[in-house]
Amino acid sequence: MEITPLLEAFFQKYSYDFRHYSEAHIRRRIINRMNVSGLESIDQMQSRLLTDEVFASEFLQDLSITVTEMFRDPGFYRSFREKVIPILKTYPFLKIWHAGCATGEEAYSVAILLQEEGLYDRTTIYATDFNQHGLSQAEEGIFPSKMMKDYTANYQLSGGKESFSDYYTSNYDSVIMNKSLKRNIVWANHNLVTDSVFAEVHVIFCRNVLIYFDNILQNKVQRLFHDSLINGGILCLGSKEGIRFTELFDRYTELDKKQRIFKKRY
Ligand SMILES: C[S@@+](CC[C@H](N)C(=O)[O-])C[C@H]1O[C@@H](n2cnc3c(N)ncnc32)[C@H](O)[C@@H]1O
Repeated sequence: MEITPLLEAFFQKYSYDFRHYSEAHIRRRIINRMNVSGLESIDQMQSRLLTDEVFASEFLQDLSITVTEMFRDPGFYRSFREKVIPILKTYPFLKIWHAGCATGEEAYSVAILLQEEGLYDRTTIYATDFNQHGLSQAEEGIFPSKMMKDYTANYQLSGGKESFSDYYTSNYDSVIMNKSLKRNIVWANHNLVTDSVFAEVHVIFCRNVLIYFDNILQNKVQRLFHDSLINGGILCLGSKEGIRFTELFDRYTELDKKQRIFKKRY
């Protein structure tokens, strides 16, 4: 099944560019959507995409995997507290970019951590994604109560210093994050493939996003991150992501190899 013409046509019509996403990921999502919608060929799928905007926006949701957690990979947050926070304390103000923030759990986790370390007042967090639906949920800061047991465990394992339940208010089957955590977060629609740099940021979190990209796109996005970071800035990737096989591998030192935390060389 040849998927390139479909991705090309989708880009021409809607300006969303998936031509350099991992082929296996795109193929799985296309086959799934064809099955769900009873489409029998890739040509049928393509013409439906080009003529039915509701279907196209469903497909866009299919391609954006927003699975996330608060304090996902607690060992990463523990290392961030130990190795990165002392560096951040040397700056009078901080700009932090969460690229691919999904429904916001990662940005809220970092807001909590910075608050506990006395850095939140001097920080602006830019939390971006190309999925507007996810961003709207993130901005509301409402999460299912049933997740709080796991998130509390993650928070404690990550070196959390307070009681996790102090950071939200419960309301039946959901919780709402405290306003004080939201006040320095700017939520914005940004597409890593087609939009430009965020200048002079101190830290970039782009965790569990690059796994969906092919090598060409990973290199392109890594150049974007390198251009966005200040010298000495910090890049945090997901547990299955790295820079070793990109063009930028010698532009960073490893602050924590296992937890994928890198520091841009001066
Ligand atoms: C699996 S989530 C990762 C969420 C969070 N960073 C974490 O590690 O838990 C991947 C996110 O990347 C976003 N994403 C994928 N391609 C993107 C692009 N081109 N520009 C911006 N965000 C993108 C998806 O919409 C999705 O919300």
